[in-house]
This record gives sequence, structure tokens and C-alpha cells, in this order.
Amino acid sequence: MLLPPEAGAILPPMPTHDLQLALRHLRHLSPTQFVLELEGAEIAADSAPGQFVMTTVGGEGEPLLRRPMAIYRILRGDDGQATGFSLLVEVVGRGTAMLQQRQPGDVLSVLGPLGTAFQMPEPGAPAAEHLLIMGGVGSAPFPLLAENLLSEGHSVRAFIGARTAELLLCVEDFADLGVPVEISTDDGSRGHHGLVTEIVERYLNKSGGGPAVLYACGPLPMMRAVDSIARRVDLPLQVSFEAPMACGLGACLSCVIKMRDRDGWSYQRVCQEGPVFDSREVIWE
Ligand SMILES: Cc1cc2nc3c(=O)[nH]c(=O)nc-3n(C[C@H](O)[C@H](O)[C@H](O)COP(=O)(O)OP(=O)(O)OC[C@H]3O[C@@H](n4cnc5c(N)ncnc54)[C@H](O)[C@@H]3O)c2cc1C
Ligand code: FES
Repeated sequence: MLLPPEAGAILPPMPTHDLQLALRHLRHLSPTQFVLELEGAEIAADSAPGQFVMTTVGGEGEPLLRRPMAIYRILRGDDGQATGFSLLVEVVGRGTAMLQQRQPGDVLSVLGPLGTAFQMPEPGAPAAEHLLIMGGVGSAPFPLLAENLLSEGHSVRAFIGARTAELLLCVEDFADLGVPVEISTDDGSRGHHGLVTEIVERYLNKSGGGPAVLYACGPLPMMRAVDSIARRVDLPLQVSFEAPMACGLGACLSCVIKMRDRDGWSYQRVCQEGPVFDSREVIWE
């Protein structure tokens, strides 16, 4: 069901659906991470990489507030048509713990797609390598972005960071897509022992400053560090924020961040003007 026109005053100018969706499948990746596969061909067909949905997490409308989750993968039938989509979730509190307990056949109330998508290269833009930089569950939007970039003939490389090897996400997604992956873990249990930003810097130094476009999503300190690197080497960077959200519709202002503008700065809503922003406009605090 498409939302009624009066909702358009607070919704972005795009098809946004408010649907009751059946859970098809829940796949556990680690004790705290899982993938939810949902019905929802309409949301899947209208989604672009970086956009998100607001979903209920429990039954009986409790808790009341929906939680924001990035669109992870589009699920397709044999004919290639979108039939649903999936979410990649990490348990951090009550809502995500409730979501982890849901069973196939359970129904979730899902609003989406919402927010801005990653900006794809303009047709005819000079060739560049697209470097996807992710930490923790910030990996969720990147396999879909990689898929779209690859389908338009672009070159993609992924840099994945996590606290420990068990918590690394999306390594197989990128392997299946044929995307080269570099890995770091805080404890050294897999890949580089240290921060994901260190492997990005090492790669940029080695690659000799060829044209590249950077994309980042993960914990705030990580994105701030990627922003510093991008400024130093003068490369464009799009960042996707996972700010806490109450409404997801632009009404409550619980998700605002400070952005530069012509008058100095203003607050912008991560759920409406974001979650994807040009990092040069963000005021990192
Ligand atoms: C656009 C967007 C996309 C997102 N995509 C994903 C995704 O794909 N997968 C995923 O697992 N999570 C994603 N998140 C984060 C997810 O929405 C939160 O982890 C979730 O709402 C927490 O709900 P909870 O009830 O489990 O935790 P709560 O009980 O609400 O909070 C538990 C703890 O987590 C902190 N917290 C809550 N929300 C956030 C947040 N957004 N960022 C940082 N800390 C937070 C709280 O301050 C508290 O310390 C996304 C957030 C946004 C805004
Ligand atoms: S979550 Fe309410 S304004 Fe963004």
C-alpha cells in the first residue's frame, strides 16, 4: 500500500510503502548477528543502496517505536524480479534482541524505503576505483552498493573492519560478487591487526593516488577518521550515518547532525536529508 498523499508533507518525494510483511527466514551469523529475509516486493523494487526501512521488532505493537535498518540485499525470483529484501542486524539492545527472536511467518510492520541513497557515478564520469569502507554492522548497505556499481561496469574494493574475526560481516557477499576484500580486526584474529582506516591508508599509499571515490559506514570515530584521510588525499567521500531515530519521517528531530551551509551551519535530519551525506559538508564533533 502506498502512503496517502497527506503523508507526503513529511515523507521524501519517492515511493514509500507502509506494509505488513511476513518474515520468510532468519539466519544466525553469530550469537549477536543475523539476517532477516522479508516479503516486500514493492519496497525491494523501489530501494536504492544506502536507503533504509523502519521496522517493528516485537509483536502486538510493543515496543512502539520502529527501528531503522539499512536495506541489505534485494531478494529476486528466478525471473530476476525483486520479491523481497533482507536486513543484516546486530543485537545492541532490547529492540534488536526482540527482532532476533522472531520466527518465519511472523509479520513485521515496515515503512520504506526511506532516506537518501549513495550517489552513483554520473554516466560518462571518469573511471575511478570505488572503495567501500565499513566497520561492524555498518557493512549492511555495501553489498547492494557493490552490486549496483559492478552492474554499471565500475571497479570496486571493500575494506571490512570488526572487533574480532567472528564479527566480520559481508566477507562472503563480496567474495560472491568477485569484489577484492581487505580485512582488519581489532584483536588481530583475522587480517590486519588494527583499524580498518589503517588498511585504507596503506592501500591508498600503495596505489599511488589514482582516481578513487570513497564510501564509509560504521562507528562515528571510524567515519571521522575516514573523513580525515579523504581530505588529506583529496578524494570524495560519502558517509552513511546510523543516528538513533524515533520517527524516521522527519518529524521528531531526534536524528539531527550539524552540517555546513551557506549561513555557517544548520541541523539536518539523518532520516530525511540523509542517512548518506557528502563528508565535506559534515561538521564532525
Ligand atoms: C539509517 C540507519 C540504518 C541502520 N542500519 C542498521 C543495520 O543495517 N543493522 C543494524 O543492526 N543496525 C542498523 N542501524 C542501527 C539500529 O537502528 C540500532 O542499533 C537499533 O535501533 C537499536 O535498537 P535497540 O532497541 O536494540 O537498542 P536500544 O535499546 O534502543 O539501544 C541500545 C544501545 O545502542 C545505542 N543505539 C541505539 N541506536 C543506535 C544507533 N542508531 N547508533 C548507535 N547507537 C545506537 C543506544 O544508545 C544504547 O546504548 C541503523 C540505524 C540507522 C539510523
Ligand atoms: S527520526 Fe524523527 S526526525 Fe529523524
